[in-house]
Amino acid sequence: TGTGKFFVGGNWKANGNKESVKKLVQELNDAKLEDDVDVVVAPPYIYLDYVLNNLNKRVEVSAQNSWVGKGGAFTGEISAEQLKDLGAQWVILGHSERRHILGETNETIGKKAAYALNNGLKVIACIGELLEEREAGKTTEVCFGQLKAYADAVPSWKDIVIAYEPVWAIGTGKVATPQQAQEVHAEIRKWLADNVSAETASETRIIYGGSVNAANSAELAKQEDIDGFLVGGASLKGPDFATIINSVR
Ligand code: G3P
Repeated sequence: TGTGKFFVGGNWKANGNKESVKKLVQELNDAKLEDDVDVVVAPPYIYLDYVLNNLNKRVEVSAQNSWVGKGGAFTGEISAEQLKDLGAQWVILGHSERRHILGETNETIGKKAAYALNNGLKVIACIGELLEEREAGKTTEVCFGQLKAYADAVPSWKDIVIAYEPVWAIGTGKVATPQQAQEVHAEIRKWLADNVSAETASETRIIYGGSVNAANSAELAKQEDIDGFLVGGASLKGPDFATIINSVR
């Protein structure tokens, strides 16, 4: 069982425009959010500054990626130092869309996590198996390999939240059952206890992502090793995202 504060992140991915971002910020500012939850939103880079300046400070702000090392001649990239300079507090790393569409490896993701942490950002570190990996009985093997890549690279786990996102559940409407998610979360926590420390295992938040919505979040939140959510599609609607936040147990 985790002892960390409930955590809900909204990953906006490459969605929205100036008008819809303004509306979503307004909806979040108007929403009543339970106190006992850490809330973070991750807009596309180009809207980070607007969100940082207009969203109630109750909600922290994350990027969806960062460059692997120090900034410089890397066309199209954004460095961790730049995100920190802007005022962002978090970065999402290792999302399955970056692993499987952009080809990021465990090793690169581990380096990104270390670099971001060393430059003062907190990290939402994503892991998760593909459908064929689950069907082949390789769920824990894949997740543990991804965890090890982070563990081998990062200086500490204190500013890391682990997001378990089974790839088959992302954007498919096919949410993991509370039992399926709980089972993997418990394995992740045990891996941390065995490979990092008992303290890290109990203090690190392990959040679930993949088709979480306002109707299924409460059941998932009851599971003892689910410490919150990383929400995609449903985080684009302020009232739905607020309902998910308020499903804190
Ligand atoms: O990072 C959140 C995510 O990948 C889940 O997306 O749309 O299935 O909630 P969605």
